[in-house]
Amino acid sequence: MWLNRDIVSIGDLSVDEIMEVIDRANEMLPYASSGHPKSPLANKIVATLFYEPSTRTRLSFESAAMRLGAKVLGFGSLEATSVAKGETLSDTIRIVNSYSDAIVLRHPSEGAARLASEFADVPVINAGDGAGQHPTQTILDIFTIWKESGPVNGKSIGFVGDLKYGRTVHSLSKALSLFDVSLYFISPDELKIPKHIKKDIEKRVAVKETKSLDDVISDLDVLYVTRIQKERFPDIEEYKKVAGVYVIRPSLISRGRKNLIVMHPLPRVDEIPPEIDNLPQAKYFKQASYGVPVRMAILDLILRGE
Ligand code: CP
Repeated sequence: MWLNRDIVSIGDLSVDEIMEVIDRANEMLPYASSGHPKSPLANKIVATLFYEPSTRTRLSFESAAMRLGAKVLGFGSLEATSVAKGETLSDTIRIVNSYSDAIVLRHPSEGAARLASEFADVPVINAGDGAGQHPTQTILDIFTIWKESGPVNGKSIGFVGDLKYGRTVHSLSKALSLFDVSLYFISPDELKIPKHIKKDIEKRVAVKETKSLDDVISDLDVLYVTRIQKERFPDIEEYKKVAGVYVIRPSLISRGRKNLIVMHPLPRVDEIPPEIDNLPQAKYFKQASYGVPVRMAILDLILRGE
């Protein structure tokens, strides 16, 4: 069931499978800082191909692979690769397929990971494809909710910021709609969640859409903040209209529920100022740290199949 499986879209996984990864990640947690004593992936090579910048996803995948005893190869920028000479994605994937046992791919084009999976025999893991999906981020986000706030069922979860281009929001809201939750989408008109995603989610769970975070903060158990994705705007003037529209202040947090947690996939720009970092509600650094055990779980499952 898991062996050699591609992880391209969160929609490819059932709730039971997401929870299986989460249980495995919890088992991996003690080894995320010390390394797995049995090095279960000792004979494996994981390739990380990043056509777009990344700190957390690439380095946590590489750390996860090494904590399990695997070796890592790949690139984090294109200048020193044959992509700079015009090599196509499909040719690069065909080549790296013969050098590795799994390919972790980040690419600016939506659908790139699906395309790559068609050219690779080894499993392809989508590490973010344009404004499309970021499924392993979704699993670590659900792991964070589960660890820091308790069972997902029954929660009210609000997404604020760039819901149009934010692929973490697209993946996570779709996955959460498989649970018993209420979802709030908080954004300016220009950055609303795409209609087709909202329409799909509304079939399963209650959805409220608003521009005002103040109006709904007291309803939320989880506030998921996102960066306005400047690099995805076709027109910089459009970006300037919405830049800085939501800034999370301590006064806002103080009006939230006692057990509210604040998450952010990071990197942040100015939407969460440093004064929030030491509040007990701030969980975004913990969330980033969970990238290692969650990605250890995913690599272990798809490379060993058990
Ligand atoms: N959350 C996330 O995807 O971060 P990076 O862009 O640093 O990988």
